[in-house]
Amino acid sequence: MSRLVIVSNRVQIPTEKAPRAGGLAVALGSGLVPGTLWFGWSGKRGHGGRTPTLHEAQGVTYATIDVTDKEYHDYYVGFSNGALWPLLHYRLDFLDYARGQYAGYRHVNAYFAEALQPLLKEDDLVWIHDYQLFLVGEALRAQGARQRLGFFLHIPFVPPEILDAMPCGRDLLRGLCAYDVVGFHTDDHRHAFLSCVQTFLGVSPAEDGSFVYEGREVRTISDPIGIDAEEFANIAARSSRGAEVRRIRESLFSRALAIGADRLDYSKGLPNRFRAFDRLLDRFPEHRGQVSMLQVAARSREDVDRYLQLRRSLDRLVGDINGRYSEFDWIPIRYMTRALTRKSLAGFYRVARVGLVTPLRDGMNLVAKEYIAAQSSADPGVLILSRFAGAAEELKEALIVNPFDADEVAEAINQALTMELGERKERWQALRERVWAGTPQRFTETFMAALRP
Ligand code: G6P
Repeated sequence: MSRLVIVSNRVQIPTEKAPRAGGLAVALGSGLVPGTLWFGWSGKRGHGGRTPTLHEAQGVTYATIDVTDKEYHDYYVGFSNGALWPLLHYRLDFLDYARGQYAGYRHVNAYFAEALQPLLKEDDLVWIHDYQLFLVGEALRAQGARQRLGFFLHIPFVPPEILDAMPCGRDLLRGLCAYDVVGFHTDDHRHAFLSCVQTFLGVSPAEDGSFVYEGREVRTISDPIGIDAEEFANIAARSSRGAEVRRIRESLFSRALAIGADRLDYSKGLPNRFRAFDRLLDRFPEHRGQVSMLQVAARSREDVDRYLQLRRSLDRLVGDINGRYSEFDWIPIRYMTRALTRKSLAGFYRVARVGLVTPLRDGMNLVAKEYIAAQSSADPGVLILSRFAGAAEELKEALIVNPFDADEVAEAINQALTMELGERKERWQALRERVWAGTPQRFTETFMAALRP
């Protein structure tokens, strides 16, 4: 059997204990089979050796490389997170493009390919992940790699009118055509990609979403990522008997809890979510003093200006709302910018009557699936989910909202807080089935089946 080689910007080595903000590395980690090689950035900035550092854990080999300060600023802070991330989340107003940073991005993608190449075996299946590494496949091909190469995008793709704003948009599309298979979480993202290659590269995709570009066949698939729901449910059940959950329960004095947990990122719609909570307290005053919202917003990408600006504006907004509604023994929004461990979060999800997952755009959003997995069957909470999260394609029995409409979200929170147990159970049962079926193993196997020759 061919070996699987995973390439991603972040690598999750199981011995690392620190809480993680990003879901991708955690999600990929739980679908790994022994024998896999996982290659990526160490998360460190160095300047010396360019050869990968190898670690072995549970039968998996991890190979990591450092980048220099300049490389980090160009490919990660600059092009990946200052230009590609806003573009692919429909935020042209935040698109901050600089030619020099794009050159740095190309250079780091080529460096990934060079460092990986000597570790590859002839019949490896190489699976490259996410927007930081669009061009690794093209660089591997330029270095003569003959292995099957797959790519998976974990964030949305945009229609041609939006991609057109990116000066190197066509270049990136041509780069993606170096792969044998290109995968997305949803059909929407896949169709947007196909419409871009049609518009900008003049190819005509077949019914099944495959097309030929410069003599090479490229297949596209939709393959929604999932979680190990059984494991997460067990963590949540155990955690709910632990000290932290006891503390949060005691602090609530039997009030309901609404929970949100996200990276502190403008794509997550946190200001909109807070304004919706404000609308709830304004329009449905019976909930004042009866519900608390806990928002965990793990600080992220702090070297990118937009993220710091967002943090400052959230500080103000939370202060404003809490200032207006707080009583001496109740505050509406509990807001923290530290990441919590998976265990604490799982327990808190289980306590929460409402799960708020309301991004303005999101590739998938695994918090939505984790919230469902964490619930108790006897008294499940209600998920409020943005229609612009990839997860909404599967989790139809959630309360689906448009996060741009504060009134609609406020009404959904009111509906969730007043929903009868019978309806909560019915919705949760239906969601539970979907979440349990979509394991990380299924995600990996589906992609591998498409990638195998
Ligand atoms: C998203 C991206 C991932 C990224 C993660 C954390 O989930 O799709 O590729 O790793 O955010 O962001 P960071 O910039 O810290 O890697």
